[in-house]
Amino acid sequence: MKKTKGTQTSSFGTNGRVNHDSSKFYNSRLYKELEYNRPVSKEENILPKELENTIIHSSSENMKEIPDNSIHCMITSPPYNVSKEYDRDLSLSEYLMLLTKVFEETYRVLVNGGRSCINIANLGRKPYIPLSDYISQIMIDIGFAMRGEIIWNKASSASPSTAWGSWQIINSIAA
Ligand SMILES: C[S@@+](CC[C@H](N)C(=O)[O-])C[C@H]1O[C@@H](n2cnc3c(N)ncnc32)[C@H](O)[C@@H]1O
Repeated sequence: MKKTKGTQTSSFGTNGRVNHDSSKFYNSRLYKELEYNRPVSKEENILPKELENTIIHSSSENMKEIPDNSIHCMITSPPYNVSKEYDRDLSLSEYLMLLTKVFEETYRVLVNGGRSCINIANLGRKPYIPLSDYISQIMIDIGFAMRGEIIWNKASSASPSTAWGSWQIINSIAA
C-alpha cells in the first residue's frame, strides 16, 4: 500500500490534515503552563456492586458512598439557580461554590481519563451571566482538561420553555 506522507502544523493558515503530526503545536509555549501537562497517575478502584444501577438520595456535594477513582463518566444538568422548585435562591458566588463542591467531588470519584459532561444555560440579559465561562474556569482550576464545548442552538427548533429540548420535534418531522 502506498504510504501517505503526514502533514505538520503549517507556518501560515491551515493545510490538509493527513496523518497529521501536531507535535509542533502541542510543544509550543502556549501549552507549557497548562496544569494538565503534568503526568497523573491514578489507580482505578472498583465501584461496589451494590451501588450499580442505584440512585443515592443525597446532595452531589458529598458523594461519600462512592470510592475515589471508580467512575468513568459523569453527566449532569445541574440546577441553574433560577428559582425553580428545587433551587435555593443562592447568590452568584454561593451558587458557584455549590457547583465547585460538586465538581471537586466529581474529580475525586472519576478515574484518570474519565469524562465529565455538563449541560448548562447562560442566563439573563441585564447583565448576561455567562455561566458556561464560569464553569469552564472552575473545571480548569480543579484540574480537569477541557475537551470541547457544544453549543445547542435551540432557537430554530424549540421554544426555550419546552422541557423536551428539540428531540420530540425532530422525531415528529421524521415520522
Ligand atoms: C436542571 S434540573 C435537571 C433535571 C434532569 N435533567 C432530569 O431529567 O431529571 C437539576 C436537577 O438537579 C437536582 N439537584 C439540585 N441540587 C442538587 C444537589 N445538591 N445534588 C444533586 N442533585 C441536585 C434537582 O432536584 C433537579 O432535579
